[in-house]
Amino acid sequence: MTTRRTSKKPSKGQTSKTVAKAKALQNVERLDGKLDPRNNDAKIDDLQKNTEDSAGEFLTTNQGVRINDNQNSLKAGERGATLLEDFILREKITHFDHERIPERVVHARGSAAHGYFQVYESMSDFTKAGFLQDPSLKTPVFVRFSTVAGSRGSSDLARDVRGFAVKFYTQQGNFDIVGNNMPVFFIQDAMKFPDLVHAVKPEPHNEIPQAASAHDTFWDFISLMPESMHMIMWVMSDRAIPRSLRMMEGFGVHTFRLINERGKSRFVKFHWKPLLGLHSVVWDEAQKISGKDPDFHRRDLWEAIENGDFPEWEFGVQIVEEKDEHKFSFDLLDPTKIIPEEIVPVRRIGKLTLNRNPDNFFAETEQVAFHVGNIVPGIDFTNDPLMQGRLFSYTDTQLIRLGGPNFHEIPINRPVAPVHNNQRDGFMRQTVNHGQTSYEPNSLRGGCPFQAGVDMGGFQSFAERIDAQKIRARSASFFDHFSQATLFYNSQSEPEKQHIIRALRFELGKVETPPIRERMLALLAQVDKGLANSVAEGLGAKVPKKLDKPLNMSFPAGVDPRKFQPKRLPQEIDSSPALSMVNNPNFPKDSIKTRKVAVLLADGFDAAAVDQMNKVLLTAGAMPKTVAPRLGLVTGSNGVQLKADFSFLTASSVLFDAVFVPGGDTSVAALVAEKDSGEFISEAYKHCKAIAGSGAGVGLLATSLAGDFTESDEAGTGVTIDKGVVTSRDGSIKDIAKAFVAAIALHRHWERETGP
Ligand code: HEM
Repeated sequence: MTTRRTSKKPSKGQTSKTVAKAKALQNVERLDGKLDPRNNDAKIDDLQKNTEDSAGEFLTTNQGVRINDNQNSLKAGERGATLLEDFILREKITHFDHERIPERVVHARGSAAHGYFQVYESMSDFTKAGFLQDPSLKTPVFVRFSTVAGSRGSSDLARDVRGFAVKFYTQQGNFDIVGNNMPVFFIQDAMKFPDLVHAVKPEPHNEIPQAASAHDTFWDFISLMPESMHMIMWVMSDRAIPRSLRMMEGFGVHTFRLINERGKSRFVKFHWKPLLGLHSVVWDEAQKISGKDPDFHRRDLWEAIENGDFPEWEFGVQIVEEKDEHKFSFDLLDPTKIIPEEIVPVRRIGKLTLNRNPDNFFAETEQVAFHVGNIVPGIDFTNDPLMQGRLFSYTDTQLIRLGGPNFHEIPINRPVAPVHNNQRDGFMRQTVNHGQTSYEPNSLRGGCPFQAGVDMGGFQSFAERIDAQKIRARSASFFDHFSQATLFYNSQSEPEKQHIIRALRFELGKVETPPIRERMLALLAQVDKGLANSVAEGLGAKVPKKLDKPLNMSFPAGVDPRKFQPKRLPQEIDSSPALSMVNNPNFPKDSIKTRKVAVLLADGFDAAAVDQMNKVLLTAGAMPKTVAPRLGLVTGSNGVQLKADFSFLTASSVLFDAVFVPGGDTSVAALVAEKDSGEFISEAYKHCKAIAGSGAGVGLLATSLAGDFTESDEAGTGVTIDKGVVTSRDGSIKDIAKAFVAAIALHRHWERETGP
């Protein structure tokens, strides 16, 4: 192999062609990983080339001229007009004037992080993708999470789908999985995407509402699109209001292909399974967080990574043999359908770890350009008609969003794999291409750059057989719009069903046009009659018995609408526990890692109790934070002083996962006098969070919760646990802490809720 390495100039007997070929082969070695030091920081190193740090440096213009006065413009006399010749002022203002670029047309609000991916064992039987071969190889990744509808400055806690986009900087080039936290989508065909987005975005006449689907145009569209009902179940569920970006699943949505070395293709669905479990907030909480901390998810991700609590997901695949393509009750090409995990299990094949925050939001998070079409050898597309449209859309939109055809050169977008081609010029070109030729074939440059044979890593599309009529139509196999919506609803626990009902009552309650509500109720009745009746009750309406128009309005003019009516097919299963967050067997509720616990205290708090509780919580990986009537130092019963992390003015129960009120008579008396402490506790109770009290702290809970929990063991030393409220007036803090940790791990105590 070493003989293939080249020197810069051809030696005697070597033509420029042989040199070029040798260089290409050298790159193949690099692609094979043979020369690569398995450096998972490859992308970080690459980004270093473009970083700037002004520590200890002079202020300069963009031309490198040192600036002597950054306070005053150049004037004709102290009170005179500013001179046009002031190149320093002109440059500064001009650059400022052009600082903004268009936000993404969808998924504008996002947060991102760097990390790496490692496969558990070689997947060579299924795919030749380089990053899925070798467990010792760490592939750098950049991951961006987003909401869909809101603009760049909107709240993180909108009820919405979350984007989950992963860019793998593999040695064979960039591979992007541009997915969501829900495994299906609203529509089946890309033709409807602009309609969907126009419907959900703020209404065009008054640009209201921001980042919300609860308005007429969205539900008008949905009520005419029965194919959206499965996705509507997901979006109305708690999945649409995650507790943390670190605690949600991710899905590639479409069916892709895996191709192995022998060229054999299999169908695949991609999954991300969060190791911190699957958790959400409740809707009332989401709305309040949007006011208290609109950056809640962004902050949570940032702080977790800064604290060294690196978020992790396992990468899962559902693999289907080509011969089984038609064996399901649904079509694998239909993006409104899942493959239930109970039918085809998700095999976990690797792990994604996010371990570094971006250095600069704009340069990285804003300028990153994901694309479903970024694939590498070993992965390929299917004919899913939604994905096919996406293959066009992303480059197209990025051309304008990032200002021209060279956005692949922006540091965050450029691959770690070498790039050589005959593409040239254009706005903001960074690469200085050597040589006389920018075409192929050429003889002047020995034919370089070469096409790579398949055995040298050249991409070859899967040779799918096609023999078809050119036609604008949907396959008959796409028309079962309700069965999987019903499957989703049936798979939810009772509280989750109530949340869906409440979400629909909220959303449709904001709709001002009665016929839209009626059409929605008719569609919901197709999913589940009980669901439709409950929603109708909340709206003070009735589920219409008969609609005067067909259910599916999206048929071409002149075509018999009956042909386009939804139909129900027999299903493989009636219920899929993997669809529920509460009953999900994949996510046991046994960890409180990184959960935030508010410790309410004031001067005179029981210092021993706080110390012991904090130790237990920290050992379990949680983050206790003190909340006091004012900021500064708080003095405990034994004279120990603690820093208040928050005051009641800067904190709110919705920003925490659980609350602990320690004893200490003076502390509790001060908290009783502090009006916000009662609201803090009662709100945490309303949102079904774990609450604990020790000593006199139990008294504060009893006052704030006015009989909502029983304290059966009042006189004894035992610990009482009632609907997630853990109390003991005289018991050991160790016992309280143990029960508290178990209560937090359950995440929420839904038994406190009483119907929708
Ligand atoms: C025909 C259907 C679709 C079209 C035309 C479309 C189009 C777009 C466009 C134009 C963007 C902005 C990209 C940019 O400015 O860089 C975008 C972003 C995004 N789309 Fe889609 N999309 C479609 C469906 C989907 C589906 C089904 C998913 C999920 C599987 C999805 C996931 C995402 C994500 C995660 C982003 C944000 C990427 C980022 O973080 O920068 N899209 N989409």
